[in-house]
Amino acid sequence: MTEPSAAHAAAVTDRGRLAGSAYSTDRDLAARQSLYQWQAPRYDLPGIVAEQLSGVRGRMVDIGCGNGTFIQRLRDERPDLALLGLDIAPGILASVPGPVAVADATHLPLATGSADGALALHMLYHVLDIPQAVRELSRVVTRDGLVIVSTNSDRDKAELDDLWQRAAGDVLGTGRGPARISLSARFSLEKAPAFLGEEFGRVETTELPGTITVHDPEPVVAHLASYRAWADQHDVPFGATIERARTILVDHIDQQGAFEIRCLGGVLVCRR
Ligand SMILES: C[S@@+](CC[C@H](N)C(=O)[O-])C[C@H]1O[C@@H](n2cnc3c(N)ncnc32)[C@H](O)[C@@H]1O
Repeated sequence: MTEPSAAHAAAVTDRGRLAGSAYSTDRDLAARQSLYQWQAPRYDLPGIVAEQLSGVRGRMVDIGCGNGTFIQRLRDERPDLALLGLDIAPGILASVPGPVAVADATHLPLATGSADGALALHMLYHVLDIPQAVRELSRVVTRDGLVIVSTNSDRDKAELDDLWQRAAGDVLGTGRGPARISLSARFSLEKAPAFLGEEFGRVETTELPGTITVHDPEPVVAHLASYRAWADQHDVPFGATIERARTILVDHIDQQGAFEIRCLGGVLVCRR
C-alpha cells in the first residue's frame, strides 16, 4: 500500500470538514457502524471495551466519542464510572448523554493525571499531530491508568476499495479507476503500536477479523456513500460512481447470491 500523502493527511484531518460535514450529524458514521451487523463473527465492541475496563474505577474520558456508542453502553453497565465525552464536532455530540464537551485530542481540557482511563476509538487517524494526541492521552491518565484505542488494518474491507475502483473505472471509461480515500491509513492497526509505544510501555493488540456477507446491496451502497464529505478528494464523479457500484453489486449478488467483505479491526490496550 502506498504511504498517505500530505494532501491525504490534510483531507482526513481537516477540522472544518470533520466538524462541518463528515461528523456534523451521525448519519455517515452510523452507516459505517451498521454494516457490521452482517459480520461473522460478530464482535460486541462496546462489550469488549467494558470488559477491559472491569478493573478501572473513577473517571473515564472518551475522546472522539462520536455518536456516543461506547458512552451509552458504559452508562448502562458501569454507572459507577464518571464518564466524559469529548469530540471536535459539536453536531455529533447533540444526542450523546452528557456530560460532553467540544475539545481537540491534541489539547485536552483536562488536568494531568485526572482520568483513570481514556478511550480513543477509531479516531486517532483523524488527528493531524498523532504523536501529540498520544502524549495527551498519556498526560491525562493516572500512572496506572488504562488507555484503549481502536482502528482498522490496512487490509480492512479491501473488497470495497476494489468495488470502488471498478465502478470509478467504468464511470471514467478507463478500466480501473482511482482509489477511494482511506480514512484509517495514517493510523492503521499496523502503524498504531509504534505511535502508542512512544508513551506506553505495554501495548496489547487484539485483532478482530471477520467477514461481512450481504444479500442486499443497500448497506454497502450506504457505506460507500458515507464518504461523501470527501467526495471532492476522488478524481471521479462521486454520485455516478456510487450508482455504478450499486449496479455492479446487484449483478454480483444475482450471480453469486451474496457479496462478501473481509474485515480486520483491532483494539489496543495501553499501559505505562
Ligand atoms: C470514526 S468516528 C468514531 C466515533 C467513536 N469513537 C466510535 O468509535 O464509534 C471519529 C470521531 O472522532 C472525532 N474527531 C476527529 N478528530 C478529532 C480530534 N482532533 N479531537 C477530537 N475528536 C476528533 C470526529 O468528530 C468523530 O466523531
